[in-house]
Amino acid sequence: AAPREVGTLALRGRFVHGVGSTAGTLDAVVDGLLVVRHGRIERFAISEAEISSALRELQDIPLVQMGADAFCVPGMIDTHVHAPQHQFCGTATDLQLMAWLQHYTFPAERRLEDASLAADVYTRLVRRLLAHGTTTAVYFASLHLGGTKALVDVCRTLGQRAFVGKVAMDQHGGEAYEETTEESLRDTEALIEYCHACEDAPAEERLVNPVVTPRFIPTCSKALLEGLGALAAKYDARGCWVQSHCAESVDEMAFVEQLHPGKRDVQIFAEAGLLTGRCVMAHCVHMREDELRTFAERGTGIACCPLSNAFFAGGTFQLRRAQQAGVRVGLGTDVAGGYSPSMLNSCRTAVIASKVSASTAGADIDFKVAFWTATLGSAAALGLEQHLGNFAVGKQFDACVISRAADVYDTFAPPSADPREVLMADFERYVNLGDDRNVQKVYVRGRLVKGGDASG
Ligand code: GUN
Ligand code: FE
Repeated sequence: AAPREVGTLALRGRFVHGVGSTAGTLDAVVDGLLVVRHGRIERFAISEAEISSALRELQDIPLVQMGADAFCVPGMIDTHVHAPQHQFCGTATDLQLMAWLQHYTFPAERRLEDASLAADVYTRLVRRLLAHGTTTAVYFASLHLGGTKALVDVCRTLGQRAFVGKVAMDQHGGEAYEETTEESLRDTEALIEYCHACEDAPAEERLVNPVVTPRFIPTCSKALLEGLGALAAKYDARGCWVQSHCAESVDEMAFVEQLHPGKRDVQIFAEAGLLTGRCVMAHCVHMREDELRTFAERGTGIACCPLSNAFFAGGTFQLRRAQQAGVRVGLGTDVAGGYSPSMLNSCRTAVIASKVSASTAGADIDFKVAFWTATLGSAAALGLEQHLGNFAVGKQFDACVISRAADVYDTFAPPSADPREVLMADFERYVNLGDDRNVQKVYVRGRLVKGGDASG
């Protein structure tokens, strides 16, 4: 295995990050010194005395001073992205889910049988996600083992933390986009072993982990689902996640009812052993209370993809309801069912969806809840809240330095001179109006993966 690329640095300036277990709780630090050694946060000094003593002990660790207008936030964790669909991202917004899959998606994914085309598409996507500050992405690739390995390689080369799944589907894939049950299980296991062989490390620290990926119930036979459940169990201790689509849309639910009369997605996944503590299910818009309870009990997470839901779901995901039921919810883009690769866009759409659909006061969410969910919430949905999502000591240092970038939006001094209020105004403006031009630097495991010299 290649050597691990991890960074050692100290970063001084302003910080905003989610804390605690209540969605929306943010901490704003107007002067902090964060020390990262070998990719991990060793110390976070936030008082004058702590900072002075930390500075004295830095010795050979390079000190990066952020600009007065800049601030540092945890990297975004996109819990649901279809890497092959980057090919048509921003188009194909005119059909309902089942027709969209047949008409646009399966043909585009089938093209990635060509592994060099796959590598090209994936390189562009991973670069773009990093540019937007997505330090971790949970990917669906295509059916093809070669192209899926290429995605693993691209993430490792460009330095993005990733969870990568070879899509499994042995039925209803339409023309020539299916595999046999045996091929699907064999190639899924080969991908798991490939990820583990690339980096011999604990799963929590490994840059790219494998994901068992049944596409969704309609495209998977019972034998395939059970075989995938067995693989998830076999490799769980060495680091193996699970993902799929669950209770996504009205047309999908109707198809499942036709294929499995009297059963619903959650029960079918549960019976196959796929609802683990390292499982993230996308969408889950149409979930009953007892189904949410099942997720909460098992530690299964939800990838909420608000932009995609607006196009496909036929309903709104009730973020607060799921979080209050004890389910770990993260945010995702669902490229290209969601047309934007930006997690800020996902945050904004989550807020808007909740404002538009809230029938009772307090059922809506704000930018703080959305950002918390896109970072700490996503980490928890992956079962990695001890390792990712904020600046707690001991966690991996995956972060972005955000600058004002004057051409993106104007800033005016807020009426208060309180530096905390100024920082929160800068942060809120970034969440609501910012884009990739504001993302000055991106670090994953302390390694600088976007922005300038090699100081990381
Ligand atoms: N359900 C099955 N496949 C897909 C997909 O590619 N995108 C979305 N949004 N839903 C799906
Ligand atoms: Fe999806």
